[in-house]
Amino acid sequence: MRHDRGVRPVDKPTTTPPHVVAWSGKQFAVRVNDAMGIYATAMGYPPHAAGQRAVTARRHTDNHGFASRAAVLDDGRLVGFGYGYTTTSGQWWHDLVKRALGRELAGQWLADAFELSELHVLPEYQGHGAGRELLLALAAAIPHSAMLLSTPDADTRAFRLYRSLGFQDLRRHYLFPGDSRPFAVLGARLPLTVVSA
Ligand SMILES: CC(C)(COP(=O)(O)OP(=O)(O)OC[C@H]1O[C@@H](n2cnc3c(N)ncnc32)[C@H](O)[C@@H]1OP(=O)(O)O)[C@@H](O)C(=O)NCCC(=O)NCCS
Repeated sequence: MRHDRGVRPVDKPTTTPPHVVAWSGKQFAVRVNDAMGIYATAMGYPPHAAGQRAVTARRHTDNHGFASRAAVLDDGRLVGFGYGYTTTSGQWWHDLVKRALGRELAGQWLADAFELSELHVLPEYQGHGAGRELLLALAAAIPHSAMLLSTPDADTRAFRLYRSLGFQDLRRHYLFPGDSRPFAVLGARLPLTVVSA
């Protein structure tokens, strides 16, 4: 069957891929609701999760070492983003991960590290390299000696992406309080070593 050439199917990516831009904390805060909408959609969370997370994410922009990158279309629409900050004692994630890693690993990995707090791409734009570009751009811009993150411990696109960029296991099957899904804590030394290109 022939398709009408002039009609673009709904919900399919445009032919122009998104481009990755640097966002300051202020720029991120302005678009935080859009970003957290992507977070909820990409993670399969209910829409109200976006609003809750936006409150926390806006607060994160004040954290030392905050860095963010956005994947935007030519018309300005946001289709993906990543952000993080220097991980330090007193932060919820840092203190849990420090305990989960144990004294030796924590000492090796947490001293000068960037926590990749969120990395998400809208489903219809996934699998085309945007997430990888966001992550590489962030990693290239930060002064830390390591990047750490936690991700659902399963065979996901996210997990494959992290592996392809050299992230190694620091802790598997870890249960964060309030979440029944096991998570993996992964870390990579910076600059990143691309394992598969
Ligand atoms: C994880 C996520 C941000 C990655 O963004 P993305 O744009 O889909 O990622 P990319 O296309 O850049 O890369 C991921 C895919 O490409 C592969 N890939 C891309 N470039 C590659 C390369 N040069 N070499 C090897 N693999 C590569 C990855 O392994 C993966 O492919 P697969 O699913 O076919 O195995 C996105 O998929 C997403 O939002 N997922 C849902 C939310 C989520 O899990 N977020 C992370 C939470 S920690």
